[in-house]
Amino acid sequence: MGLLPKMRLKVVVSLTMVNLFIFIIISRNISQDKSGHQKIRIPSKPFWGKVAPSSAYWNRQQQIVDIHSNHIFMMNRSSDIPEWLNDTSLTSNLCQPNLRVTTQVKDYNSLPPRFKDFLLYMRCRSYPIIMDQPDICKEPPFLLLAVKSLVPHFDRRQAIRQSWGKAGVLANRTVVTIFLLGNATPGDHHPDLSGMLHFENARHKDIIQWDFRDSFFNLTVKEVLFLEWIQARCSGARFIFKGDDDVFVNTYRIMDFLKGLSGPKAKDLFVGDVITNAGPHRDKRVKYFIPESMYVGMYPPYAGGGGYLYSGDIATRLHNASERVALYPIDDVYTGMCLRKLGLAPEKHKGFRTFNIEEKYRSNPCAYKSLMLVHPRTPQEMIQIWAWLSRPNLTCQ
Ligand SMILES: *[C@@H]1O[C@H](CO)[C@@H](O)[C@H](O)[C@H]1NC(C)=O
Ligand SMILES: *[C@@H]1O[C@H](CO)[C@@H](O)[C@H](O)[C@H]1NC(C)=O
Ligand SMILES: *[C@@H]1O[C@H](CO)[C@@H](O)[C@H](O)[C@H]1NC(C)=O
Ligand SMILES: *[C@@H]1O[C@H](CO)[C@@H](O)[C@H](O)[C@H]1NC(C)=O
Ligand SMILES: *[C@@H]1O[C@H](CO)[C@@H](O)[C@H](O)[C@H]1NC(C)=O
Ligand SMILES: *[C@@H]1O[C@H](CO)[C@@H](O)[C@H](O)[C@H]1NC(C)=O
Repeated sequence: MGLLPKMRLKVVVSLTMVNLFIFIIISRNISQDKSGHQKIRIPSKPFWGKVAPSSAYWNRQQQIVDIHSNHIFMMNRSSDIPEWLNDTSLTSNLCQPNLRVTTQVKDYNSLPPRFKDFLLYMRCRSYPIIMDQPDICKEPPFLLLAVKSLVPHFDRRQAIRQSWGKAGVLANRTVVTIFLLGNATPGDHHPDLSGMLHFENARHKDIIQWDFRDSFFNLTVKEVLFLEWIQARCSGARFIFKGDDDVFVNTYRIMDFLKGLSGPKAKDLFVGDVITNAGPHRDKRVKYFIPESMYVGMYPPYAGGGGYLYSGDIATRLHNASERVALYPIDDVYTGMCLRKLGLAPEKHKGFRTFNIEEKYRSNPCAYKSLMLVHPRTPQEMIQIWAWLSRPNLTCQ
């Protein structure tokens, strides 16, 4: 438009200068590439020879998994592999007890029985499913609530169904609730409750059960099987909550939170009560004790297993990563390890209270309004708190 010829010349000259400048920068970069400054270096000798085996059993198993999922290594199997990395037992039946651990873990004989059981079956990830709900996600839910439970916990499951885990439509979004169970094995002197479980499942059709011994150290097996189950049966779920059967979840608050997320935030969502800078407990009396012969190093950031919330997209990626992470006896730490493998970290949200709230607020309905999760709560408390939150006249400042 009405530019004076002089001004037009100025504009043209300055634009030319800018272009020249960009050209110089680009050509300098190209010539740098040509002169080989930034060439990709191809190692001339096998580099895995330098990897020294870790003294701790889990770390060493992970080294082996890392090497075996390394494509350059797999293309070049024929070259010299240190013996400790050439684990031919990986090709045998992984669900047979791995008796080699009895000599590979130096203090194996003095470890508590739960460690022996874990180590013997650490490589097994496939167990038969004995109760399934193949069509439960026929209509993909907005939120899938997956609750880790044990066969005898009938009252906890029922309280959850009657309160925060009520399946159907909530805040105009679909909710599906399932319970994740292993087996109460007769070898552990459990009474046979299978008849009652079948009755419960016939009535509610919300139980997923696999045939493995439902112990604390096998919760990681439950996690891996659940990740697989999501891919097979519920891959359309937008969001997933996974938690224990002794927590109260404010599903109203979770719905508000999820509906308010932006697209990218929703895709990478993983929130909970995040623990950072933690490491294994070395005191034998603690439930979370892990001996040095088993694991060395810190833990990655992880969300406490009482309950956390993540996207269906993350579930797919976690499933993929879990195949490349050796099983670890503490399930929430294991999930943290899988997230780290993906280059992600869980995000802390102060609405997740896995260590409870101050005693003086526990019977105040308003204390729960802005929270997402509180641990622990009994079945009766769950029903009470849900009734408070469901009152249309609940007003809090
Ligand atoms: C495989 O190993 C041989 C000899 O060790 C080496 O010459 C070759 O470059 C390696 N190939 C790859 C893809 O690493
Ligand atoms: C790995 O071990 C098996 C049996 O122990 C042996 O036959 C094979 O040659 C070994 N492979 C390498 C690359 O060392
Ligand atoms: C309910 O949700 C659907 C989308 O899932 C939306 O189209 C509809 O407007 C919502 N209705 C109300 C009353 O919010
Ligand atoms: C895990 O379950 C398997 C299959 O029931 C069992 O053999 C193993 O001992 C269990 N592991 C632990 C640590 O309980
Ligand atoms: C799973 O991981 C592998 C790398 O191990 C990658 O090539 C593949 O694309 C991933 N698949 C999905 C569905 O993310
Ligand atoms: C709120 O409603 C419940 C019944 O739904 C009633 O018992 C309670 O007294 C009401 N509270 C107030 C403050 O109005």
